[in-house]
Amino acid sequence: MSASERRQSVRTGVVWAAVQALLGDTDAGPARIVDVGGGTGGFAVPLAQLGHRVEVIDPSPDALAALDRRAREAGVADQVTGQQGDLADLATLVDEADLVLCHGVLDVVDDPAAALASIASVLRPGGHLSLLVAQRHAAVVARAMAGHFQAARDLLDDPTAGARGGHRFTAEELAPMLTAADLSTITVHGVRVFADLVPGSLLDLEPGASAALVELEAAVSTRAEFLPLATQLHVLAQR
Ligand SMILES: C[S@@+](CC[C@H](N)C(=O)[O-])C[C@H]1O[C@@H](n2cnc3c(N)ncnc32)[C@H](O)[C@@H]1O
Repeated sequence: MSASERRQSVRTGVVWAAVQALLGDTDAGPARIVDVGGGTGGFAVPLAQLGHRVEVIDPSPDALAALDRRAREAGVADQVTGQQGDLADLATLVDEADLVLCHGVLDVVDDPAAALASIASVLRPGGHLSLLVAQRHAAVVARAMAGHFQAARDLLDDPTAGARGGHRFTAEELAPMLTAADLSTITVHGVRVFADLVPGSLLDLEPGASAALVELEAAVSTRAEFLPLATQLHVLAQR
């Protein structure tokens, strides 16, 4: 495994494990997965390699071109499709889905509540949402540790402060938004509790460090006391 792959597994291990466990629990056969804002296919391609059909919706032509290349190189081009489009138009772009991935996208849309309703509208009854968002408490800590005290103070009470039009969430804010979109929360995991605090050189130089950190991230991901420290929140919800 290369250094960048090791770093990637540290950053996404918790999310990947939750999504894989979910798909393992669903009925046999390939799931119909929509990865909205799926970018270059970091999740779409591995999910296709597990045998699922994945449709990526993303406004970026560059990301879709990279997705196409990645899917061809992995030998799953026939199971992955990319379509240029916006989360807000999901219902006009895709058919019913068993699972929608929305990773790192709710943070950047203008109206997160409308985006969740848009996702719910394409999920089959009983279908699932895998939602990954930036978490506000950790962002406040990160700004303060970097010496940006006013920015930290601003973000404390304003979820959009200093995020260049973006949005950062707390678990308490997400819960009623999901309920309003008729989505029931199944699990909430903290993601990257320590990963962003550990120097990259330590992971590169210390044999076994990445694997041990992946295990530690998994262990703390369900501990409520560590949730406010997580860079991201991963929510599995069901329609
Ligand atoms: C931070 S990246 C996340 C990529 C990928 N989901 C991941 O987790 O690695 C955000 C992605 O959302 C896409 N995006 C931005 N605005 C969007 C919108 N309104 N609808 C759908 N996708 C959007 C961007 O083009 C980009 O690929």
